[in-house]
Parts: sequence; C-alpha cells; structure tokens
Amino acid sequence: MGKLFYGTQTGTTTAVAESLQAAMSDLVSEIKCIQFVKPEEFADADFLVLGGSTWGDGELTDDWVDFMPQMDKIDFSGKTVALFALGDQVGYTYNFVSAMKVLYDKVKERGGRIVGDHVSREGFDFEHSEALVGNEFVGLVTDEVNEPDLTASRIETWVAQVRQALAQPVA
Ligand SMILES: Cc1cc2nc3c(=O)[nH]c(=O)nc-3n(C[C@H](O)[C@H](O)[C@H](O)COP(=O)(O)O)c2cc1C
Repeated sequence: MGKLFYGTQTGTTTAVAESLQAAMSDLVSEIKCIQFVKPEEFADADFLVLGGSTWGDGELTDDWVDFMPQMDKIDFSGKTVALFALGDQVGYTYNFVSAMKVLYDKVKERGGRIVGDHVSREGFDFEHSEALVGNEFVGLVTDEVNEPDLTASRIETWVAQVRQALAQPVA
C-alpha cells in the first residue's frame, strides 16, 4: 500500500500533493498532511511519497519539524520512498528546496530505499540548493511561485522515473 504525506506552511503544497496522487493513483491510496499523521500509520505502507515546501531559510515546514522526532521511531527498511519539494528559486535562490535534503537524509538513515532521486536541475535558475546530490535533485522539484505552468509536466516526467525504478528488482 502506498501513502503520500506532505507538509505545508500556507497550503500551496496541498494542490501539488493532490496532483501527484492523481498521477499515481494506482500506487498511492492515501494522502494526508503530516500534521495529522501518527508514526504507526507508516507501518503498513511499503511505498511512501513524502514532501513539502521549504520555509525559513532552507528549513522544513513547522508540521514536518514537529514530526521529525517521530521519524526516529519508524523503521524504513523494506520501504521505498519518493520525495518531492516546493520552493521559490528567485526569492530563496541560496536555499532553493533545501529542506528536501533533511527528509532524504533521515529516510536513508532509517534504512529506506529512495527512488525518483535523479532529477535534473536543468530548467531551474538558482544559486544554491542543499537538495542536490552530485548535480541532481533528490526528488521532484516544483516552483509554484515562479513556474506553476511547468508543474504538470515536471510531475509527469518524475512519476515516469519513479515507475521505472519501482519496476526494477531491489538490489
Ligand atoms: C518566509 C518564507 C520563507 C521561505 N523560504 C524558502 C527557502 O528557504 N527555500 C525555498 O526554496 N523556498 C522558500 N520559500 C518559498 C516557499 O517554499 C513557497 O512559497 C512554497 O510554494 C510554499 O508552499 P506552502 O504554502 O505549501 O508552504 C519561502 C517562503 C516564505 C514566505
């Protein structure tokens, strides 16, 4: 069973999360804001989509900050996780979608397998992001402030990448 849990500060992420679920409705049966999620709810999910916006200066949203201590109670081994992030590449060009790396590091530390983590930075224009490994973002990136018109195609490309990874045997 797949679940999508997201964080948001001012609600923008909700619509992106809903579009994502629509594009993956065969894989994701539940969508919920992390504010209302209990750690036990991760247990029966073998596939998770986790994400949200970056706030402060490269930080997670408050709901994710509150939930992070609970992540240490969750065993991600045997779970596959895909990450997504919203940010503002113009207004926060020195920390574009940086918070996604916090989730990435925690899921990896807890033993999760990450997919959809080869996202090209091409087409974005920013100075710095913590959410890059090598030259690729570790998950889907959208910019609802400056490029909302590109979100649908970014979702489509990324979901195809996730599907391809899910079809591969686990190493
Ligand atoms: C006070 C404030 C701080 C922000 N900090 C960042 C940041 O560090 N990096 C980034 O990429 N975007 C940043 N943003 C942009 C938000 O991530 C973006 O507006 C996002 O779409 C908000 O989504 P939400 O309404 O779901 O929280 C910030 C926005 C505000 C208003």
